[in-house]
Amino acid sequence: MTGYWESRFKNEGAMWKFEPSDSAIRVLRLFKCEKINEILIPGFGYGRNARLFLDNGFKVTGIEISQSAIDLARANGIGCTIHHGSVTSMPFNKEKYEGIFCYAMIHLLNKRERHNFLSSCYKQLIKNGLMVFIVASKEASLFGSGKYLSKDRYEIAKGLKVYFYDSDSVLKEFSNYGMIECKDIEEPVKFVEGEETVKLKFVICKK
Ligand SMILES: C[S@@+](CC[C@H](N)C(=O)[O-])C[C@H]1O[C@@H](n2cnc3c(N)ncnc32)[C@H](O)[C@@H]1O
Repeated sequence: MTGYWESRFKNEGAMWKFEPSDSAIRVLRLFKCEKINEILIPGFGYGRNARLFLDNGFKVTGIEISQSAIDLARANGIGCTIHHGSVTSMPFNKEKYEGIFCYAMIHLLNKRERHNFLSSCYKQLIKNGLMVFIVASKEASLFGSGKYLSKDRYEIAKGLKVYFYDSDSVLKEFSNYGMIECKDIEEPVKFVEGEETVKLKFVICKK
């Protein structure tokens, strides 16, 4: 997985530009309503979503596997702490966070890693804290494409393995971690004109 993302960020740079996703804007509103200010962003990328929170006065910490993505974040003025490594090595510190926002990352992990990652996130969340995960959905047009790996998991491009959730698997994987809501969303692809929306699931957990 490191190789896939490292070479994409190295070759393509800030490939999704810097406009935050609609989901990040929704999460910002939610976190503000809940008076959440200190957050963790695992799968930080080069910070296109993190910047929204930083610009709104949040204290942000990231975790990112690709050094090239971290270099891009730095080159674009993002100065918050970003731990370089895999979420499978969490925790990187003893901090507890009021909120965790994870956009399009958990579905890149295998079953055991997803389970351990959720458990690690939950442990680093304060009581009453919120975690939001934006995850791949079986309703997405890419579901079933590429090489079949195991139930609902496909290698959709060389080195890019994705697990696609439905409402049953969301319930199964997130209900032990305080899941309070799961909704289907359609995320506009803002960086490509005329591109169709991507179907994802928006999962909220509360400790
Ligand atoms: C689909 S991208 C989303 C990036 C970012 N959340 C955004 O929306 O701009 C997935 C990100 O997760 C990172 N990533 C993949 N596997 C990871 C892992 N095991 N630990 C930490 N980061 C990982 C990738 O390098 C990439 O930056």
